[in-house]
Amino acid sequence: MVYETLLYAKRNAIGYVTIHRPEKLNALNRTVVEELFDCFQHLQRDEEVRVVILTGTGDKAFVAGADINELAVQTPVEGKATSQAGQKVLDLIENLGKPVIAAINGYALGGGCELAMACTLRVAAENARLGQPEVKLGLIPGYAGTQRLPRLVGKCQALEMILTGEPVTAEEAHRIGLVNQVVPAPELPATAEKLAQKIIANAPLAIKFAMEAVNHGMEMSSAEGQFLEATLFGLCCTTTDMKEGTRAFLEKRPAKFIGK
Ligand code: COA
Repeated sequence: MVYETLLYAKRNAIGYVTIHRPEKLNALNRTVVEELFDCFQHLQRDEEVRVVILTGTGDKAFVAGADINELAVQTPVEGKATSQAGQKVLDLIENLGKPVIAAINGYALGGGCELAMACTLRVAAENARLGQPEVKLGLIPGYAGTQRLPRLVGKCQALEMILTGEPVTAEEAHRIGLVNQVVPAPELPATAEKLAQKIIANAPLAIKFAMEAVNHGMEMSSAEGQFLEATLFGLCCTTTDMKEGTRAFLEKRPAKFIGK
């Protein structure tokens, strides 16, 4: 897969997607959004890829937001379309059926913070800064930041970030539950890979159903969410991997999962 604004590689069951607009701190222009959609559609279908690691080129920015040059000239109708196009890509990432780990290597602002929040897990370098500065531009978050941020960190912290527009440090992001881990910048790629490999060792369908139970369950009442969980738990019981995983434990040997 060759793109103008993305770098793509595949190794050891991991798909590596790097947003590559270094001269604009990896800001999301229309081309990046379109290419991300295409790339993640391929990743969803590629059975060799079990986990995706998403990052930005360089050591300064993950993504410094939506491209302000494009935002500055958009009409109301274009603004709505821009927001919906971004929301569609982030929904695809959130519901990919396999985990996506954001390796946040610097600024994750506006659309960058929203992109990181659509990922399944987030690992941040110590120099990372996360924020929703849209109000400083006379805008509000448009790639579902007003929805995902309060779900991740609670309404209180989310409103402070969205209304002040001020970024939080990686440490503060960790404290409020916005990122899973903070590591020194040089350790970021290896940390994301280690996390990916731990997930890859587990049963692929169990990973997929667990993510469905959490993602869909969060939008339901607790009773409905528990019903969904029980149904997916039952579905796991139909899989070869469930028989293998339980048998391997009882036989005191590592399980060999096949994703069926
Ligand atoms: N859209 C378009 N271009 C952007 C951008 C964005 N979101 N963020 C950075 N850039 C561009 C800058 O315009 C600059 O381009 P230039 O060299 O052609 O002038 C280049 O990237 C480098 O950015 P610069 O501002 O010089 O770097 P810095 O280290 O001084 O500051 C930031 C870094 C991230 C603090 C600053 O770029 C910034 O505030 N960016 C906008 C963040 C934002 O509001 N995002 C939300 C958008 S909804």
